[in-house]
Amino acid sequence: RQRESQSLYQLTEKAADFYRAQLRAHPAAGRAITYLKQRGLSGEVARDFGIGLAPPGWDNLLNHLADTAEKADQLEHAGLAIRRQDSDGRTEPGRRHHYDRFRNRIMFPIRDQRGRTIAFGGRVLGDEKPKYLNSPETPIFHKGRELYGLWEARQANRELKRLVVVEGYMDVVALAQFGIRCAVATLGTACGEDHIQLAFRHTGELVFCFDGDRAGRSAAQRALEAALPHMQDGRSVRFLLLPEGEDPDTLVRQLGGERFTQLLDEQARPLEDFLFDLVGEGINLQTMDGRARLSKLAAPLLDRLPAGVYRQLMFQQLAARTGLDREMLEEIIEAEQARK
Ligand code: UTP
Ligand code: MN
Ligand code: MN
Ligand code: MN
Ligand code: MN
Repeated sequence: RQRESQSLYQLTEKAADFYRAQLRAHPAAGRAITYLKQRGLSGEVARDFGIGLAPPGWDNLLNHLADTAEKADQLEHAGLAIRRQDSDGRTEPGRRHHYDRFRNRIMFPIRDQRGRTIAFGGRVLGDEKPKYLNSPETPIFHKGRELYGLWEARQANRELKRLVVVEGYMDVVALAQFGIRCAVATLGTACGEDHIQLAFRHTGELVFCFDGDRAGRSAAQRALEAALPHMQDGRSVRFLLLPEGEDPDTLVRQLGGERFTQLLDEQARPLEDFLFDLVGEGINLQTMDGRARLSKLAAPLLDRLPAGVYRQLMFQQLAARTGLDREMLEEIIEAEQARK
């Protein structure tokens, strides 16, 4: 088991080296470099993040790393090659069994906390679909537990004052390009409790900064729910909502690093404001019905908070807004739990 993981780490690192070498030397590299430059990336930042290129073609990586069937099998285990199936869904005998998973894509290596490459995200150079392809789960990669850019952020900062949680690879890299070297991204999945716990192991302050679109707003809502159980003394969680149609990448390129940092400092809203705005949306607190609805929506959320002063203060706020006392709110929580 341990030995298998060891060789997966080695293989994945070799793949990362291969992709980086292709970005320097492959005949298709010109187009990729033009693309990266057009998105504002410098060679230095591309190097810091180990960005590479999976060239066009079905077997570049296989040819480079897998001269035996056994090694092709290993590349499959690493999530880098896919086994061909015949029309019956079985493997065809006597033929090459695998093809490269990543083809004609800009490659972002995903590194674990020790800096080991464990997986990749790959972006197309044009408008093809899917825009991003990620490594599948493997014995060394569990996407619900990794944050893209965390290792790079730790390399760049002796102490992490805060982490900015964004949606995409390019958001992390673009922010770094503008000197904001503390952004991390979930890997095409919702930000869950494991991500929050991991982030809080390295800093006391999180700022969620998702895209200004419907997906981004629902991502923020889910991040809020995931963060609630982890709100302890000395921890801060805030939300920076971006203008419609913008993401951190597009916005930092318009504003520059300083003004973006200013937004993070001054415009990001504390969790409590964000929560009450979110659940209070469209609710008229002048009416009894409105106050009842707010209690029913907010109480179960607040109940996710761990015991402590913050929890008490939040319940006090809810009580003030609804005019209900703590006991009534407890009853509402129980009733809502029973309904589920
Ligand atoms: P977005 O659609 O917001 O893409 O998806 P983006 O990061 O802004 O991409 P650019 O700027 O066009 O390069 C946000 C994130 O969702 C995941 C990726 O992790 C992406 O960075 N995603 C998106 C996928 O996994 N697959 C996709 O096809 C699209
Ligand atoms: Mn096998
Ligand atoms: Mn988006
Ligand atoms: Mn985006
Ligand atoms: Mn983008």
